[in-house]
Amino acid sequence: MAHRPIGMFDSGFGGLTVARALIDLMPNEDLVYVGDTGRYPYGSKPADEVRGYAIQIAWSLVRDFDAKAIVVACNTASAVAYDALVKEMPVPVLEVINPGARSLVQATRNKNVGVIGTVGTVSSGAYVRAVAATGADVALTSAACPGFVEFVERGQTTGDEVMVLAERLLAPVRTANVDALLLGCTHYPYLARVISEVMGPNVVLVSSADETAFAVRKALIDADLVSHETNRGEHTFLSSGDVSWFADLGRRLLGPELSDAKLWTPGK
Ligand code: DGL
Repeated sequence: MAHRPIGMFDSGFGGLTVARALIDLMPNEDLVYVGDTGRYPYGSKPADEVRGYAIQIAWSLVRDFDAKAIVVACNTASAVAYDALVKEMPVPVLEVINPGARSLVQATRNKNVGVIGTVGTVSSGAYVRAVAATGADVALTSAACPGFVEFVERGQTTGDEVMVLAERLLAPVRTANVDALLLGCTHYPYLARVISEVMGPNVVLVSSADETAFAVRKALIDADLVSHETNRGEHTFLSSGDVSWFADLGRRLLGPELSDAKLWTPGK
């Protein structure tokens, strides 16, 4: 059981930020990653539709790849599908929202915190609930950032266009004087330089990737599922869209572990 891979998925490239953190923390674990680029973006789609995709991919990871745990490496899918996945899946399911919220409340000093995410994530209220669940005495301002994901998926992570968009979309969290801002979409760490330039040097940017990796490791330890393999794990990357594009841009974003990508077909 412990030698089986960790299964993870996102609508596209964003979950690679979580994959990077998992590979760095647990280099001996095998990993299977599905980037659903054929059906991305998730953030602007109805919750039911995203939930359906999430359940379909999670079952494929368990049935076709023998995954021992599922990591929902996407805030939108975590926000709308986590409860359903936990009920349905025969293996542990981990998500990115609660780990991110915990890091966020630890990072603030002035007690004004912000979250940015997709329309789907922000309108689900999942971060409002997750921050409240930490019990921290903080004021939370949320802002949806439609358009950011599309820039990342095109590989355009710098430049005037993305900067102009960032100035406009980040205005609410700037006005709220937040000193800690959670990148509540797994794509956003790739825009961290632009976001940081707009927010200024006194605002700490929090990414849920590292905290999620720690949560995954803890869940594997608790369930006695940690691999005892001493060699480096195998990392398999799949995409429901153009696989050569996924491999090329993915390698730029994740690093050399993403040497190639295979096709993942929905409904298989
Ligand atoms: N990376 C995803 C997230 O964390 C969603 C991007 C999208 O497909 O809209 O929310």
